[in-house]
Amino acid sequence: MDDLRALRQQYFDLLDRLQRNEREFRRLGRSVWRVQEDERRRLARELHDGVGQNLTALKHRLSQLDESLAADDPARAHVDAALALCSDTLEDTRNLSRLLRPPILDDLGLASALRWLVRSSGEASGIDITLDLQPLPDLDGEMQTLLFRVAQEAINNATKHAKAQHIVVRLVARGDTLQLQVADDGRGFDPSQAVHAGGSGLGGMRERLRLYDGRLELHSAPGEGTRVRALVPLLARSGTPMPS
Ligand SMILES: Nc1ncnc2c1ncn2[C@@H]1O[C@H](COP(=O)(O)OP(=O)(O)O)[C@@H](O)[C@H]1O
Ligand SMILES: [Mg+2]
Repeated sequence: MDDLRALRQQYFDLLDRLQRNEREFRRLGRSVWRVQEDERRRLARELHDGVGQNLTALKHRLSQLDESLAADDPARAHVDAALALCSDTLEDTRNLSRLLRPPILDDLGLASALRWLVRSSGEASGIDITLDLQPLPDLDGEMQTLLFRVAQEAINNATKHAKAQHIVVRLVARGDTLQLQVADDGRGFDPSQAVHAGGSGLGGMRERLRLYDGRLELHSAPGEGTRVRALVPLLARSGTPMPS
């Protein structure tokens, strides 16, 4: 009888240890992710304020040079080409900076950031992307970042791989669950072939959601479009809020 009791106790101790390890693992996973977002934020600022401003100044100087040349000066074509290159690089730098960490997410929050993402992705890809945004409860910075990153990856996949004509992004609170869905009418794929454990993209999304007690649902088949749905609980979490 005593043996049985001891065994029982051992079992509960082990279970307790397992649960503590699991909590610790999640806590570490979240902090890795926070550090990554902080770093992205820093790089985005540096790109925008450093490289971006230098390119703006360079463009200005080239314009001045251009204006000082006579209309028939053969150097003009070279200066014009340099100006065009400078403008393109400035545009690329700004886009990269925004993709790394859009300031709108920190300044105005998830709803505005999603509107911006949908508009800019639609313009860049030429695909019709609509956003259905239902009234949202208050979300902490970390949850907003999580949902933004899922939307960003799913939209990116739909514009890059799907050859879709329409994409619909939907964010809705249902009871104590928040649902973010990105659906496209593109060529679809076989999810069992595509989600590699621990990989970037879909695998990364799935792992990140799991750290927040959420999950990823993926519905797709060749020729039938794709529906990616992230579900996260709205219950209070023990994680520390995202530094802004
Ligand atoms: N919306 C989609 N439509 C069609 N194929 C997709 C879609 N999303 C993902 N895929 C397929 O699944 C693969 C894995 O996607 P992902 O994990 O995001 O990696 P990556 O985008 O870097 O290739 C893609 O290479 C593509 O073949
Ligand atoms: Mg991808």
